[in-house]
Amino acid sequence: MSQVHLGHIFHVAGSPTVTEAAAALVSIPDGALVIDDDGKITYCGTREGSPEGGTVHDHRPGFLLPGFVDTHIHFPQTFAGDAYGGGQLLEWLTLCIFPSESKFGDPEYAQKAAVEFCTRRIAAGTTAAMVFGSAFPHAQDSLFSETQRVGLRVVSGRGIQTVGTETAQPLMTSEEDAIRLTTEEIEKWHGADTGDPATALLHVAIVPRFSLSVTTETLKNLGELYDSVKDRGVYVHSHLNENNRPGTGEVDSTKETYQVNSYLDTYDGKFLPGSQVGGKSLLGRKTILAHCVHCQDVELERMAETGTSISHCPVSQQFLGSGTMPWKRTIASGVNVSAGTDFGGGDEWLISKVLSDAFKVHISEAGEDSISMHPGEMLFIGTLAGARALDMEHRFGNFDVGKEADFLVVDPSTVPQLDGHLTNGIRSDEPTLARDQTLFQLLMGIREPAIAEVYVRGRRVTAD
Ligand code: GUN
Ligand code: ZN
Repeated sequence: MSQVHLGHIFHVAGSPTVTEAAAALVSIPDGALVIDDDGKITYCGTREGSPEGGTVHDHRPGFLLPGFVDTHIHFPQTFAGDAYGGGQLLEWLTLCIFPSESKFGDPEYAQKAAVEFCTRRIAAGTTAAMVFGSAFPHAQDSLFSETQRVGLRVVSGRGIQTVGTETAQPLMTSEEDAIRLTTEEIEKWHGADTGDPATALLHVAIVPRFSLSVTTETLKNLGELYDSVKDRGVYVHSHLNENNRPGTGEVDSTKETYQVNSYLDTYDGKFLPGSQVGGKSLLGRKTILAHCVHCQDVELERMAETGTSISHCPVSQQFLGSGTMPWKRTIASGVNVSAGTDFGGGDEWLISKVLSDAFKVHISEAGEDSISMHPGEMLFIGTLAGARALDMEHRFGNFDVGKEADFLVVDPSTVPQLDGHLTNGIRSDEPTLARDQTLFQLLMGIREPAIAEVYVRGRRVTAD
C-alpha cells in the first residue's frame, strides 16, 4: 500500500551545482509525495495530479522538505555544547573538549549520550549525518546500535589520536591500536544493518581527528588502510584549515609541525617535509573535510579535482572565532560545499540554523566578497549537497522519483514567530520572488518544535 503525504513541497530537483540550485528549486504549494512499500518515491507533484489510492497523510498547511544532512557533528561532544573557558580552537580542545570526550570511557555515560545524540538528531530533522566518533569502541557500538534502533542514517568512525597534550592522553592509542581498532570498527559496522553498504543506513569512516593529533606514521598507515577498504565504500573524515589565530593557530602549527606547503598535503599523502610523498592519499568522493576557512587556492582546486567535499560550519566558526569561509572563492573552485553543525563547536543541532548563519556571515563578507545567498542555495547545501558529500546523492537528498524518501514534515504553527512570518509577511506580486520569500522565512525561522515528523526511507523515525 503506497503512502501519500500532502503538504507544501520544497526541494532542489535533479543534480545541480550550488550555482544552479536556485534554478532547480521546486515549490509545490498543494503537493503530494507518494512512497511505495520499499520507502522509495514514486510521485512528487501536485495533489491534483497524483495517482489514486494509498494511505493519505494530510499535513496541510504544513511543509514537506527533504531530510537535513549534517556533514560534520561530534558524537562525543553531545554534552559539551556551550563549553566556557577554553578560548579559541586549540585552547578549547585542551581545556574543554578532551576532558569531556574522555568521559566516554565510561560505557554507561556513552550509552546515555548515544540515546541523547539520536534524540537530538530526530528533534532537528537530521536524517543523515557524518558523525565524528568517540575514541572508545564501546561508545561507537552504542552510537551505531542506537542509530540502527531508531532508524536514522549514519556514517561514523572512532576519532583517531596518536599524539597530543596531557588532557588528550585518555583518547590516544599506540600506532598499532589506531589501525587495529579502526579496522575492527569497519568489519563490525560498515553496512552492518543490511549486509551491503549499497543499501545500508550504517557506514564507517576513517577519522584522524586532525593532522596535529596524529603522526606521519599514522597517516601512512591510514593511507594504506583506506586503500584496502576503498572499494567497500568506506569514508574518510577530518578537519582542515579551521583556525589560524596568530601564535596558537591550528593552520600554522600544522604547517610547522609537518613542514609542508599546505595543510591539505598532510591528508593527500604528501605529509613529509617539503610536501614530499610519504604515503597514499586520503582524498576522494567519500572524503569530507570540515571548515576549510583558510584554504589556499591550490587546496580548493585539489579538493574539487578529487571530489572531496567541504563541510561548512559557520555556527561553530563564530563560536570558536575561526573566521568566515570565503564563499565566492570557495564555490568558484568547483568544490562541493555542504553544511555541518560541528556540535559541540557549534551550539545548534539544527541544520537550518547553520543555513541561517551562513546567510548572515556571507552577506557580511567585506566589499565584493559579500553575497546574499538565494534560499534555493541554502536549501541545497543543507540537503542535496550533503547527500552528495556522503556520495549517496543517488539514494536521497531530494524528491526525485526513485530516491529513498527521507523527509521532514514542518508544522510552523508550533513556533509562533515563524507562523507569524509565514502568515502575515509581505509577498511579492511576482510569483518566483514570492516563492523565495516563503522559503527564506521558513529556513531562517524553523526551530526544533516545528519539526513535526521525520521520515527515513519512508519510515517514521521517533525517539522511543
Ligand atoms: N579540530 C580537531 N578536533 C576538533 C573538534 O573537536 N572540533 C573542532 N571544531 N575542530 C577540531
Ligand atoms: Zn569539528
